[in-house]
Amino acid sequence: MTDHAVASSRAPLEVRGVSRRFEETVALSDVSFAVNAGELFGLVGPDGAGKTTLFRILTTLLVPDSGTATVLGLDVVRDLWAIRSRVGYMPGRFSLYPDLSVEENLSFFASVFGTSIDEGRAIIAPIYDQIEPFKDRRAGALSGGMKQKLALCCALVHCPEILFLDEPTTGVDAVSRREFWDLLGALKKSGLPILVSTAYMDEATRCDRVGLIQRGRILAVDAPAAIAARYPNPLIAVHANERHKLIQSLRDYQHAKSVYPFGDEVHYSDARAAKAMDDIVAELRTYLAGSGFTDLRVKPISAGVEDAFMELMGQPEATVRAAA
Ligand SMILES: Nc1ncnc2c1ncn2[C@@H]1O[C@H](COP(=O)(O)OP(=O)(O)OP(=O)(O)O)[C@@H](O)[C@H]1O
Ligand SMILES: [Mg+2]
Repeated sequence: MTDHAVASSRAPLEVRGVSRRFEETVALSDVSFAVNAGELFGLVGPDGAGKTTLFRILTTLLVPDSGTATVLGLDVVRDLWAIRSRVGYMPGRFSLYPDLSVEENLSFFASVFGTSIDEGRAIIAPIYDQIEPFKDRRAGALSGGMKQKLALCCALVHCPEILFLDEPTTGVDAVSRREFWDLLGALKKSGLPILVSTAYMDEATRCDRVGLIQRGRILAVDAPAAIAARYPNPLIAVHANERHKLIQSLRDYQHAKSVYPFGDEVHYSDARAAKAMDDIVAELRTYLAGSGFTDLRVKPISAGVEDAFMELMGQPEATVRAAA
């Protein structure tokens, strides 16, 4: 088994060249990145990108075909038993027992690790305080947001040294999503390294660094602002009441590089990277006015991390959820 004294000097998570196939499907292809001490790291990618496969490898439930990964300095294949008691894993779907109460679920997860709710109290308190009024309710009868909080408590109750959260906010309403990320921010302050996956691109901005993953490959790893700053083309936000027609007209424009809905606007990037923005905007207005739009708002903008992700992924996939 790996020597803990050696392990402590390394990043809490290191992934090197990990690949994994399921028959013909390449779920992960040469994935490498590291999560540093105290870092909140987001793995952002669409459905089927390979996120869950990677989480299962890192939590020792699946072995990679090739490559290596260490968690807390321990090898995910060789040191699996040592890793299991020291990590917290929230697998997203189906992690709770719906017929057990809130308190019974938590007690169960505590007992699996040989501890109790009281012993884990200090770390779970900020979260558990919010769901304790419902401690006798069946987990299956909780709202989506409360289920996620309970699942987070269950992943934390044995005081893990690193936290793995696989799509914790999928299917949860926007307010609960925001609350959940606030909780993660508070947990991060306690120094706990966190790897969290999401298909919501807007959640990337809540992370210290993100890895963008698509079809099993990591496309970029960096701080969200640094990824946004790499955006290569002039970007313009356009608004008109006839949104569908607007998207179609912009896509038909000869200089369009990409066009996608973004909130109640449409983001248009121009293929002419070197042309002056003022000229691009003026020409675009003329073109759209000629297409019959009378209520246009056209304004140059700086790219955000979501725009950069769209760019990196090429054609945006329908399953990636941009900000509403
Ligand atoms: N046990 C399995 N057997 C066969 N194929 C699998 C298995 N697990 C995953 N895959 C395939 O591997 C690819 C990656 O799946 P994975 O579940 O890791 O993606 P994901 O990013 O977690 O997606 P989602 O957003 O749907 O949770 C997909 O094409 C999936 O169908
Ligand atoms: Mg998944």
